[in-house]
This record gives sequence, structure tokens and C-alpha cells, in this order.
Amino acid sequence: MRLLAGKVAIITGAGQGIGRAHALAFAKEGARIVVNDLGTDPSGDGVSRACADAVVDEITQAGGQAVPNYDSVATMAGGESIIRTAIDAFGKIDILVNNAGILRDKSFGNMTEEMWDAVINVHLKGTFACTKPAVEHMRAQGTGGRIINTSSTSGLIGNFGQSNYGAAKAGIAGLTRVLAIELIKYGITVNCIVPTALTRMTEELPMFQGVGQKYGPEHVAPVAVFLASDLAKDITGKFVGVGGGRISAFDVRQTPGVRREGIWTPHEIADRINEILNVW
Ligand code: NAI
Repeated sequence: MRLLAGKVAIITGAGQGIGRAHALAFAKEGARIVVNDLGTDPSGDGVSRACADAVVDEITQAGGQAVPNYDSVATMAGGESIIRTAIDAFGKIDILVNNAGILRDKSFGNMTEEMWDAVINVHLKGTFACTKPAVEHMRAQGTGGRIINTSSTSGLIGNFGQSNYGAAKAGIAGLTRVLAIELIKYGITVNCIVPTALTRMTEELPMFQGVGQKYGPEHVAPVAVFLASDLAKDITGKFVGVGGGRISAFDVRQTPGVRREGIWTPHEIADRINEILNVW
């Protein structure tokens, strides 16, 4: 039995890169797929139907079922239309993978409001805009569901020149944690993938020069399939890192800290700061 037999999955930004790898892997495991992609350039400009259509063709030629959707995730109307495409084509939605993304990198001194808004809108607002109607349908269906978000080390750890992107990806992490708590009572799990993959978004990065082929997006897809399947029915609120052959987890932890009666003075805090900050 294939892992996603009978399931309906929506994958945003599935026309290329990691989203395309997710779509092909989900279809191989028996899911019917909505291949959403606005078809932009890496900075979010332009639109094209070609990449979503190409992935739909690839899936159907391999014997799977898929339909395209060309809406932007970045508006509520777009999100609702993306989810509606699954309902109209396949009658339900079981899995949503929020993957669509763009970059507008600049150091903070040169970061403009326009660059900030564009990146926050596609990543953070886009995750909200698709998740909101998806969860409404999942709750009405009463059969649980899977939400798989996409964060980044830029949001969880930080990276130079990505204040807009890092803020969006950290926001997605916070949304993931809260939704995991809120939705578990409906059997809906909410997890986050933290990928590292050679795509057009990352092909210029020094870390990929000469070793890029070891970091193909097809390494990321099995984590998404796992999280979408019944194998992961008890896993929620987690951040799974994957790149090349390495799979890991990201976590936020509170240190044991220090205690005293009454109010600490700044000098007392300075005296104990290593104990306060030290996790291990
Ligand atoms: P990519 O550029 O190859 O694919 C992104 C896709 O999203 C494109 O096909 C694009 O047309 C689509 N898209 C852009 N704006 C859209 C919108 N408003 N509505 C619908 N579709 C839209 O990039 P890649 O690398 O595959 O990235 C996928 C996700 O993984 C993104 O969320 C990215 O931030 C994240 N990520 C990627 C990493 C990597 O190493 N490649 C590292 C960390 C996170």
C-alpha cells in the first residue's frame, strides 16, 4: 500500500525546486495533487503557467493525478482559490504543504519597505492565507489533516542580509507551534521542514559550489512524505531539518537559569550572565 493512497495534497510553489520534488514524491505515493505555482522569478516578479503545467504533465504521464493552480498564495482570495481547486477537482483536502517562496536579500541598512512587504506577504501571509481555508475544510471533513510549513535556518538561527526573509520564516515557525497546539484536537498535525537544497534560489551560494548535486531537492521530499503520512500521525509542532543525506531537528529551549527572592539588579545579572545564557 502506498503511503499516501487516497489522500489529496496541495503543494504551493510546486512548479520547480523543492515544491516540484514534493509533488512528484507525493504523487508516487498515491496522493492526488494540486500543483500550485504563480511562476515568478526568484524575487517574485513575473507570472507564468508553464512550470505548474509541466509538473502536472510529469505526474499524469507517470500515471498519477494532478491539477494545476496558478494563483498567488499571498492574498486571502488566492489562498481560498488554491484550496477550492482541490475541492472542485478531488472533493476534499487532506494535506497542505506551504512551500512557495521568494527572496529579496539586502543588508538591513538597504532594506526597503517594499522588499520587506513582498517577502513577508509571500511567506508569512501566504502560509496564513492557504492554511486558513484548508483548516476550515479539514475540520468540516472531520478526518484530520496534515499541514507542512517551510521555515529556514535564516529564521531559526539568522543569516546576514535576510532580515525580511528571516522574520517571515521565524513567523512561520511561531505559527507552526501555535497551530500544532490548537489543531491537535481535530487530528490535524502541523510541522515545519527546514530544508537545504540546490535550487535556483540557492545555486549561487558558496556552500553548493562543486557539491550541489549532493543537495538535490529530492533529498527533502521524503521528509515531507513522512510528515504527511500516517507514519507521522503523532508528530506535531516539530522542525525537521533536511539537506543532502542529513536529517536533524531544530528546537527552542529555555535554560535552567538562576533564581533569587526579589528583584535582580543589572549588576547581579551581569555577574551570573554565563549561567543564565548557558544551555549545556
Ligand atoms: P524555488 O524558487 O525553486 O521555488 C519556489 C517556487 O515558488 C517557484 O516555483 C515560484 O514560482 C513559486 N512562487 C513564488 N511566489 C509565489 C506565490 N506568491 N504564489 C505561488 N507560488 C509562488 O525555491 P526553493 O528553493 O524550491 O524554495 C522552496 C521553499 O523552501 C521556499 O519557501 C524557500 O524559502 C524554502 N527554503 C529553501 C531553501 C533551499 O536551500 N533551497 C533553504 C531554506 C528554505
